[in-house]
Amino acid sequence: MRIPFEITILLILCLHNKSYKCHAVHVGCGTRPRKRAKIVGGTDAQAGSWPWQVSLQMERYGHVCGASLVASRWLVSAAHCFQDSDAIKAYMGMRVMNSVSNAAATRQIRRIVLHSQYDQFTSDYDIALLELSAPVFFNELVQPVCIPASSHAFTSGTSCFVTGWGVLSEEGELATLLQEATVNIISHNTCNKMYDDAVTPRMLCAGNIQGGVDACQGDSGGPLVCLERGRRWFLAGIVSWGEGCARQNRPGVYTRVIKFTDWIHQQTKGQVQPLRLSLLVMI
Ligand code: ARG
Repeated sequence: MRIPFEITILLILCLHNKSYKCHAVHVGCGTRPRKRAKIVGGTDAQAGSWPWQVSLQMERYGHVCGASLVASRWLVSAAHCFQDSDAIKAYMGMRVMNSVSNAAATRQIRRIVLHSQYDQFTSDYDIALLELSAPVFFNELVQPVCIPASSHAFTSGTSCFVTGWGVLSEEGELATLLQEATVNIISHNTCNKMYDDAVTPRMLCAGNIQGGVDACQGDSGGPLVCLERGRRWFLAGIVSWGEGCARQNRPGVYTRVIKFTDWIHQQTKGQVQPLRLSLLVMI
C-alpha cells in the first residue's frame, strides 16, 4: 500500500508527539468498536452501543443529565442542566446506572462553558461544553461522537437515535439500563406549526408525530445521533425540551448542533478534531 505524503507527515507528527490530539486522530470518532455486527417508548441498549453517552451526576441528586463525549477531555451537554452550582461528576462507558466496569471512567468537571446567548425562558442556545479534570482513554466502551460540519444537512425524515437514562414515562422513574429509541428528523416548518413558532433556528425537532417515542426528564443534555453514509455517528442534536413527553404533535426539541460547530472548535481550542483528519488516518 502506498501511503500519501500528508498522511505520513501526520503519522510521524502523531507518533512523535503523544498529545491528546493525536490520540483522537488515531481513533477517529463516531464508531462503535464493540459493535460490528428511557427515553419513552425505547428499548434497552446493548453494551458499547453508544460509547459517547455520559451520565452527569450531582452528589445530592444522583443522575441529573446526559452529555456526549466529543474529545478526550470535552463533553457537550445542554446549558439548562447547569442552573444549580453543585459539583458534577461525569460517568463514561456506563450502561447500568452506577455500576462502573473496568473499561469505564469517572471524572470531575474542571470547567463549564455555557453559551453566552443561552436564554432560560426560550431555551435558545441551549448548549454547554464541559472540560474534564483529566482526559479519558478511549476503549471499546468509551469513544467520542463526531461533530458535524456547519454545512452538514440532517434531512427531515432521516431516522436517528436518542439515548439516555431519563424517565420511562412523564410521571415515571429514571431508567436503570441505558435506553435507545429511533426518532425521525422533523422539518423546521412542520415543527414550528406544532409549537406556535417557539422553535428557533438553533433548534431541531425529532420524534414521532403520532407520539409514543421521545426523550423525557433526565435525558436532557444527551445525544441525538445519526449514522452518516453508514459509517460514522454524528451528533445532530442535544436533548433540550418538549411539551410533556411522547405526546401526539409534540415532538422532542433538540439543540441544533451544526449551528455551534465553530463555537465548539473555538472553545475547545481545536481539541475536537475536524473529521477530515480522522478520515485521513483511517484510510
Ligand atoms: N428538559 C428535560 C430534562 O431536563 C428534557 C426534555 C426533553 N423532552 C422531550 N419531550 N423531548 O431532562
